[in-house]
Amino acid sequence: MSEITQEKKDELKAFIAECSQKQYPDSYLIAVLHKVQGMFGYLPREVMDQVADMMQIPTAHIWGVATFYHYFNLKPIGKHTISVCLGTACYVKGAAEILDAIKRELGIQVGQTTEDMLFTLQEARCLGACGIAPVIMIDDKIYGELDAKKVIALINQYRKGVQVA
Ligand code: FES
Repeated sequence: MSEITQEKKDELKAFIAECSQKQYPDSYLIAVLHKVQGMFGYLPREVMDQVADMMQIPTAHIWGVATFYHYFNLKPIGKHTISVCLGTACYVKGAAEILDAIKRELGIQVGQTTEDMLFTLQEARCLGACGIAPVIMIDDKIYGELDAKKVIALINQYRKGVQVA
């Protein structure tokens, strides 16, 4: 993911200064966390320490907010995020087997990232495509009517850098 450069630190500082003129600190903390995640892909500890400093808020409070919202990544994530739908429609059509196949293929558990930083694995609840269950999402693309074999082929396409339409 993105490097923590001086330029990015300055950009963040300017963003915080701009927000602080408009809103009360607690109400703009989430906006700042969104900004940090957008810049780095996750919330780096070093950057969070600086945010605490700039916003004059205890670091523990910031981590409390960040961990409450599952949206925020506390660790670096891979280039591609695979979300396996475990909603009812997908589950009855074999989502658990698909998840197991992906775990085996990548050698990681849900919530983890491969060592090469290519994939992060997540679970999801109904991706809104029940008609083509079982479904997974890779980044913002939905893939349906899968089975363990098809999903491994899909992963291999991403490994080669070919994103399937
Ligand atoms: S349950 Fe999987 S897309 Fe709806």
